[in-house]
Amino acid sequence: MSFVVDADFGDNRPMTQLSETHDSIRAVQWQGDHLRLLDQRRLPAQEVWIACRDAAQVTTAIRDLAVRGAPAIGIAAAWGVAMASQQHASLPPVLDMLRAARPTAVNLMWALDRMKRRIAAGADTAALLVEAQRIQDEDLAANRRMGELGAALIAPGSGVLTHCNTGSLATAGFGTALGVIRAGVAAGRIARVYAGETRPWQQGARLTMWELVRDGIAAQLIADSAAAHLMKSGAVQWVIVGADRIAANGDTANKIGTYQLAIAAKYHGVKFMVVAPSSTVDMATGDGEQIEIELRDPAELLGFAGSRTVVEGAQAWNPVFDVTPAELIDAIVTERGVIERPGRLAMQAMFGR
Ligand code: MRU
Repeated sequence: MSFVVDADFGDNRPMTQLSETHDSIRAVQWQGDHLRLLDQRRLPAQEVWIACRDAAQVTTAIRDLAVRGAPAIGIAAAWGVAMASQQHASLPPVLDMLRAARPTAVNLMWALDRMKRRIAAGADTAALLVEAQRIQDEDLAANRRMGELGAALIAPGSGVLTHCNTGSLATAGFGTALGVIRAGVAAGRIARVYAGETRPWQQGARLTMWELVRDGIAAQLIADSAAAHLMKSGAVQWVIVGADRIAANGDTANKIGTYQLAIAAKYHGVKFMVVAPSSTVDMATGDGEQIEIELRDPAELLGFAGSRTVVEGAQAWNPVFDVTPAELIDAIVTERGVIERPGRLAMQAMFGR
């Protein structure tokens, strides 16, 4: 069943004010003739900005995780197309190159399809720049709306556990799951925040903790392997995660480790919330079995920060996403509303097709 929950922060503060309190990071910045990205490979040790001066550099930044997170890579790709148009490049190969950068997050394909439709309709460079800006602005607005909707589901005094990084770094700003946490903390609904490390790339340890400390939100890092033990303790009432692709039946691909969190949550009576903009919903993909799971270089597992930590000769398998079946999800929160106990019919009712 689908319905929209009205925001209720219980303290009469408008959302705009709450957003300003806990929302200071913008990692993807268009500069008029190039794209400026906060290099997520270097955080938190160094805050280094890189300049992408053509679509090939944007593609490399996406592939090598200088920019990451489903919405952020879609936004970066849209700017890559607009920049290519500015430089009078042939756009079909640019679209193909960007599309191939990463396979799982559908926001990348969604943003490129949107740019492609504008190109097919005869849009000039100015119109493509406007479209890329719209994609970015709409994402920020969606995140704020999802923050309201998601926070309204959480009982005051709750503890939450999140996974990976779903914050401002992963989006146009504010974040998806981390946006709900920002809104829930600001509203006094969330009393305890826990973030899993997110091996092997450490998005939780390196990026989510950086965002939370920077925005003054108290949180505790846990080893990924501590999650079930944490749930058993009663300290968390919700697991809140983002998504890279939500299939037509509600099955959800997200960062590796999400699936085991959902299983542990079910066992311990902890609720499980997925927060993602409608650009993450892929109604053309029937179920999670059909979602391509990105396999990355085993070296990401076999070493850390450039040095080998595992014995030479050892091998590794490094899938970086997994699929959580819809039946383990209590709520999917999008800017269009909340779907509780998601399934094919409720997804169709909200997203059509
Ligand atoms: O490999 P990453 O870091 O791009 O993976 C990111 C995630 O899995 C996020 O949880 C997801 O993109 C949602 S971000 C709002």
